[in-house]
Amino acid sequence: MLVNLRDICAIAEQNNMAIGSFNAPSFEAVRATLDAAEQTGYPVILSHAEGHDPMAPLDKIGPTMVALAERSSALVCVHLDHCENLSYMRRALEMGFTGAMFDGSYLPYDENVANSQRAADMCANYDCGLECELGSMGAREAGARDEGGTAEESGAIYTDPDQAADFIESTGLDILACSFGTVHGIYKGEPHLSFDVLREIRERANVPLVMHGGSGVSDEDYHKAIDAGIRKINYFTYGSKFAGEAAQECIAKKRAANPDALVYWHDMTMSAYERYLEVTIETMKVFANGAKPVA
Ligand code: 13P
Repeated sequence: MLVNLRDICAIAEQNNMAIGSFNAPSFEAVRATLDAAEQTGYPVILSHAEGHDPMAPLDKIGPTMVALAERSSALVCVHLDHCENLSYMRRALEMGFTGAMFDGSYLPYDENVANSQRAADMCANYDCGLECELGSMGAREAGARDEGGTAEESGAIYTDPDQAADFIESTGLDILACSFGTVHGIYKGEPHLSFDVLREIRERANVPLVMHGGSGVSDEDYHKAIDAGIRKINYFTYGSKFAGEAAQECIAKKRAANPDALVYWHDMTMSAYERYLEVTIETMKVFANGAKPVA
């Protein structure tokens, strides 16, 4: 069933859990994400990032995501991730997306506020939940990426709790993406997260908070972040890496048995799907933070 971003985050709030937001730039990733939600009984956010448009164009993947979410027995929010162009956001809203992120974190504060307000007006017209970002994680999902590292190396600027209170009030956003030590991509070394940033934002403004750069974080840190107010965790790189490894293992296994073996495209996509399903199920259970299945 297709549900609004606000409603899915309210479920997370009531159960002190986080909902996984999985980027799905292929049919196999869409299918595995929905299957994981159906098999675990946990709600899910199925995400498409504007920066993934070259591998999964919105006009093709968007209607697929919405149609499959509508038919799913799981609670599914179809969400636009890291959108920097309001015209792109409008196209997703027209297709029936129920959540959208406007990412103005790279803009000066006043411009971020002004554009986030425009996004809020647009989302209100389509009854779509809105996520905005304050602070900067450095490497972003859209555009050039430096594949992780540490928050410092990525040029991250942690979210300022006082500014966050003003930002939330001025923009009318529903949920806030915060920078507190996670980075997009592969971590080079242990991530060091600042939970105090989250606690201070929650003290000043009680909105659901979002962790970006969520894959590659330890279970203990996920749980600490959830206890400090994180309600949505964006997960992509590590799941995609594990699925890629499964496709490579599939080729290696066939070639070990017979060096001339044919390896079909569908052999690889099936292996990738199966591994991604496994990883997504495990991840959803960790994000549940002890909460029982909701559906
Ligand atoms: P990772 O790719 O680092 O897991 O981050 C995903 C993300 O934050 C998408 O917005």
